[in-house]
Amino acid sequence: MSNYHIKNFPEYFHIYRNSVRNPELFWEEIAEEHFLWREKWNKVVSWDFSKPEIKWYEGAKLNITENCIDRHLYTNGDKTAIIFEPNNPDEGALHISYKELHERVNKMANVLKSYGIKKGDRVCIYLPMIPELAVSLLACARIGAIHSVVFAGFSSTALSTRINDSDCKMVLTSDGSYRGTKSIELKSIVDEALENCPCVETVLVVERTNTPITLKSGRDFLIAPLLDAASNDCEPEIMDAEDPLFILYTSGSTGKPKGMVHTTAGYMVYTAYTFKNVFQYIKGDVYWCTADIGWITGHSYIVYGPLANGATTVLFEGVPNYPNYGRFWEIVEKHKVNQFYTAPTAIRALAKEGVEFVDHYDLSSIKILGTVGEPINEEAWHWYDDNIGKKKAPIVDTWWQTETGGVMITPIPFSTPTKPTYATLPFLGIQPVLMDDAGNEITGNQVDGKLCIKYPWPSIARTIWGDHQRFKETYFSTFKNMYFTGDGALRDEVGYYRITGRVDDVIIVSGHNLGTAPIEDAINEHPAVSESAIVGFPHDIKGNALYGYVTLKETGESRDHDNLRKEINQIITEQIGPIAKLDKIQFTDALPKTRSGKIMRRILRKIASNDMSNLGDTSTLLNPEVVQDIIDNVL
Ligand code: WTA
Repeated sequence: MSNYHIKNFPEYFHIYRNSVRNPELFWEEIAEEHFLWREKWNKVVSWDFSKPEIKWYEGAKLNITENCIDRHLYTNGDKTAIIFEPNNPDEGALHISYKELHERVNKMANVLKSYGIKKGDRVCIYLPMIPELAVSLLACARIGAIHSVVFAGFSSTALSTRINDSDCKMVLTSDGSYRGTKSIELKSIVDEALENCPCVETVLVVERTNTPITLKSGRDFLIAPLLDAASNDCEPEIMDAEDPLFILYTSGSTGKPKGMVHTTAGYMVYTAYTFKNVFQYIKGDVYWCTADIGWITGHSYIVYGPLANGATTVLFEGVPNYPNYGRFWEIVEKHKVNQFYTAPTAIRALAKEGVEFVDHYDLSSIKILGTVGEPINEEAWHWYDDNIGKKKAPIVDTWWQTETGGVMITPIPFSTPTKPTYATLPFLGIQPVLMDDAGNEITGNQVDGKLCIKYPWPSIARTIWGDHQRFKETYFSTFKNMYFTGDGALRDEVGYYRITGRVDDVIIVSGHNLGTAPIEDAINEHPAVSESAIVGFPHDIKGNALYGYVTLKETGESRDHDNLRKEINQIITEQIGPIAKLDKIQFTDALPKTRSGKIMRRILRKIASNDMSNLGDTSTLLNPEVVQDIIDNVL
């Protein structure tokens, strides 16, 4: 029992040691004592990183929604599961109890079934942050359908790529979504996307903004009357431990997005266990994660992790600056939030607006603060600590990834002494290592290298949907028998980890992972563009912003560069979404290339960051003369 809830630092060390000495026993006990199984496993873990093949709790049978909902009904049925806080504060919050959640999920599950959705089918969910979003994830899980949530800020092209990649039979969407003073017409984005998606048979539409929509006969249906008519009883589909639970797309350094596949039992055990410890959740606490359910943080730590612990989780539809920059703190005060989890980019944006917006509210309920998604800089860390936690709430800087399913490196609050900008120590059962470029493990402290994990954990992604080879190449081929994270990290004198950032062509902008290749592909579609290269450069609020170097087909000719810049960003918005727009676009006659024709991004990155020192040896380039020209015209 004691393994489940770590309460002090010696206990962390003791349990950590046991968890890595005997992982099978450790993960067996956690699973055994804290979840509802229809049948137990035959084997806790079997794995081979060279294939890679990873299985947890093989032979076990369960349904994750029984663990997230049903088992709480007898003891906690009237307890609030979800507090929905709408975009417009005047609309008033909605408290959904575990009993009500059970009914809503069952009704939705029955509607999905009545449209032919069954175990193993893929359902695309393109919804704003409203209760139906959480309910539809759980409804899919109830009947064994695989959900694929696409963040409702992605464009129609990005949506159709994702729908087609996993052959979704159904799309769940809404008429529109509210974002502060704006509203976005989601249904028309879906309509556009579906012109290229023959696999979709049905679209179910939630009415949220009441904007006019068109319903395609035989394909599109309003969901409200269907839910009204549906039974609130739905037997859960009994799943195998390794049946897929969901697909979630993440950007890669090259080509199309990767549909990371997470399976049922391991994901459930790991997200529940990390949630309990990373947020030291105790009964009665109100927990709020500001992420969107369209990202992994929302999947694991708005929906599955909290609900598996019978927690109360806040689901916020709006944005931090509407009606004003005090909105987050108003919500904290109103719902007496105990654990608050957000991204460094949000902290920086709010810090910039000054403390007046904070001081107006009573934040004394806050016990623990969390951050995720990108490295947090020291200034933002202190602002958060001073003004939000009032130096009393430990900050958990949690490092993890879509691929890892749950938090991997993190302090345990009230146990691990925190250190600004450090994610500190591995979570229980996690075995991080640093590797050098020659493929050797770097031992000892005060070192840096590429961050890998050398032993599996229950919620590691199992494959990339439809492309196991790419899964192997991306994560398991750089270093033998290791999961490679794509991040660099350093380990300080006491063994604390600090994540230094991506070491591949993924750039994290405002906490969103963006691959450079898809953005370059989009730009290159502009008829005037010959070639492009995207790099990141430091940005006060977003962490990184995007800098594009673009060469045009017809140089010499005087073109309206400002107009071209607009058109380029327009193409990016259409192909990917506004999150991938470039902050700066420099037109140049050529890009610096190696003799084998590869663009030298390292040099471009330095120039964009205004770091002209140490550009390295440029004489080996095919065209060294362009470097000076680019420097002379840097924006
Ligand atoms: C970065 C988000 C520094 C990292 C859960 C990782 C972080 C990528 C941190 C995954 C952190 C996430 N400190 N960097 N605390 N957390 N990252 O897939 O580069 O959206 O590889 O998952 O975000 O982003 P993803």
